[in-house]
Amino acid sequence: MNLLFASSNKNKIKEVQALMPAHIKLLGLSDINFTEEIAETAATIEGNAKLKAEFIWNYLKEHPSEIKIDAVFADDSGLEVEALNWAPGVYSARYAGEPKNDEANNKKLLTELKLQTKRNAQFKTVIAFINKNSYQQFEGIIKGAMAYEPRGKDGFGYDPLFIPQGYRSTFAELDFETKNSISHRGIAVKKLVEYLSL
Ligand code: IMP
Repeated sequence: MNLLFASSNKNKIKEVQALMPAHIKLLGLSDINFTEEIAETAATIEGNAKLKAEFIWNYLKEHPSEIKIDAVFADDSGLEVEALNWAPGVYSARYAGEPKNDEANNKKLLTELKLQTKRNAQFKTVIAFINKNSYQQFEGIIKGAMAYEPRGKDGFGYDPLFIPQGYRSTFAELDFETKNSISHRGIAVKKLVEYLSL
């Protein structure tokens, strides 16, 4: 089947691709020449995932792609830090304002957490999936803690600050396969793959 991931984020696409079985061909928004940014206007992570998946599903009705698309899914993620009342959450991408910037977001987070010893946090991904018969949502959560300084060169976003539970390394210090096998996105994608394999 041809499955369109409604994302232009190369890091996310690489992570999802690595978890896809051979019978699923994964496409990204660049494969349908879609280059716009979809405004994430919902108040929740679930809402933004749904909004992005529905937007692209409806877009394809008006702009059929040369490649036949069987289904579409979108993901939305957020970092939730308990000491910050679970912020930045749904606002993770633009925590330090517009335009969105990973480095500025990490810097702001460290400033907000200065002198804070309570460092526990979680990463959450919601996947919204649509095909002609159904709408489904899949959630992935990984618990962990916020580091005191950025560590590691791999990954993206908040990876240099997030230490998954049971590890000493940040996501950015772990190798690609390890992060992908335990991450919020990995958990949600595995649920999607299981659903598609039923
Ligand atoms: P979104 O799902 O693209 O809206 O992501 C929200 C924010 O979380 C952005 O700042 C991303 O860079 C960040 N983010 C999403 N997934 C990950 C991840 O796996 N690791 C680190 N940061 C992430």
